Amino acid sequence: MDPQPNPVAYQDQVIRQFSVMTVAWGIVGMTVGVLLAAQLMFPALNLDTAWLSYGRLRPLHTNAVIFAFGGCALFATSYWCVQRTCRAPLFLPRLASFTFWGWQAVIVAAAITLPMGMTQGKEYAELEWPIDILIAAVWVSYAVVFFGTIAKRQVSHIYVANWFYGAFIIAVAVLHIVNSISVPVSLTKSYSIYGGAVDAMVQWWYGHNAVGFFLTAGFLGMMYYFVPKQAGRPIYSYRLSIVHFWALISVYMWAGPHHLHYTALPDWVQSLGMVFSLILLAPSWGGMINGIMTLSGAWHKLREDPILKFLIVSLSFYGMSTFEGPMMSIKTVNALSHYTDWTIGHVHSGALGWVAMISIGSIYMLVPRLWGKPQMHSVPAINLHFWLSTIGTVLYIVAMWIAGVMQGLMWRAVNDDGTLTYSFVESLKATYPFYGLRLAGGLIFLSGMLVMAWNVWKTIEPQAQPQRGALPAGAQA
Ligand code: HEM
Ligand code: HEM
Repeated sequence: MDPQPNPVAYQDQVIRQFSVMTVAWGIVGMTVGVLLAAQLMFPALNLDTAWLSYGRLRPLHTNAVIFAFGGCALFATSYWCVQRTCRAPLFLPRLASFTFWGWQAVIVAAAITLPMGMTQGKEYAELEWPIDILIAAVWVSYAVVFFGTIAKRQVSHIYVANWFYGAFIIAVAVLHIVNSISVPVSLTKSYSIYGGAVDAMVQWWYGHNAVGFFLTAGFLGMMYYFVPKQAGRPIYSYRLSIVHFWALISVYMWAGPHHLHYTALPDWVQSLGMVFSLILLAPSWGGMINGIMTLSGAWHKLREDPILKFLIVSLSFYGMSTFEGPMMSIKTVNALSHYTDWTIGHVHSGALGWVAMISIGSIYMLVPRLWGKPQMHSVPAINLHFWLSTIGTVLYIVAMWIAGVMQGLMWRAVNDDGTLTYSFVESLKATYPFYGLRLAGGLIFLSGMLVMAWNVWKTIEPQAQPQRGALPAGAQA
């Protein structure tokens, strides 16, 4: 991978920018998440202003954590990986710089327009049409930079991580453009060209593949580069990685209808979505096993290296959420889980456990290299962050599992005379303790991000302090 000594003039400034913004947007997005969790417990926190109301802040949270935090992590790691594995500097560095500033402009526009109530009302695709056009421009530029770098490569082989990053870039472009086609009626309002059940189907084809390609394929690219690199070992099975790639991308596209069980969508389409979701378990676990088994024979490294802990534990959460997802897509299970907090638990076992933890591990690995330091300022602080993230995630998802199953069972309970056993308010009251637990989990996870911000700052500040703790030899080679 890394040529030693390094003869190529890599373009790292844009990666430094994206890495810092990953941490910054992570803190912003998760702070909004914590506020939402608190609002669900204490409605007075809506403060009687539309700007701070739950309904407007919720899409701000999802956009900030997925596209700002996750997006910046994907840009940073893909630009690093593609240059190092192709032994070529980024193609058109100025265009790469445009992707940074353009993406930040999208995020700032989202942070202003969503609290103002401007939305297309499509989940994860809320932003209005002028911002959508900017997203498309940034994304096409990203594709040009990424594939241009691959075209200029000095090694004939295209490493598998780039396949995953490449699929993520192409799929997100297609999804975004198709789902966002709309008729503008003013600068701030537009209507989707699709209607009724077709609109719902297109939206959840988009929504599910946003999970499949934005929240999964891109981060699998990260996994295929950073896990072997940090472990100092080759990927467990290169052949499995190729099977994993083709199986994953061909199956994901068909699973979207599991978001629309028991709706106006034709029944056979719902069943098709369910079957493809069940099949999806196989490639997902194939990828997870490939990542975890890379450590085979070197498990001791996991005890010594907190960065590796982040990477490997993220894969365990990936395995957990990709087992849970296929189960929830079975129609009879979905009849219980849909509309309940079980879905929210599933989302965050993927989002906190998989997406956030693999990003955090990768950024910890990148930061010292990007700023020419031997390692992060404080290794014990990385370890502390690891435990805060793990405990925060577990508290969050366990609380939501219990709350979700309880809600589902309470809503369907009927008395002998056919009347409902519980009113909705009774189920809400029973949920409060679990909302409290989720709030605690969120606060713990967020505090870990603050530890990270401190550690990153101490590593990159011009007069860096002496370092504390050490990673095992070779881990930061
Ligand atoms: C094999 C893989 C997976 C399958 C088959 C799957 C399946 C499902 C199902 C059945 C639902 C509930 C739909 C509903 O009742 O409305 C769901 C929701 C969701 N899943 Fe997954 N899931 C998988 C993996 C993941 C991963 C890894 C993530 C995150 C990184 C994720 C993120 C989400 C999100 C964000 C939602 C909520 C969508 C919404 O209603 O807003 N899923 N998934
Ligand atoms: C401190 C960390 C976090 C906290 C406290 C938090 C909290 C929340 C809350 C309270 C909701 C609304 C749940 C509801 O409507 O009942 C939510 C939704 C959501 N969050 Fe988070 N969140 C956090 C981190 C993240 C991260 C890192 C991601 C993604 C990478 C994420 C992705 C989502 C998504 C996709 C939804 C919408 C789920 C759906 O519609 O089914 N969250 N979050």
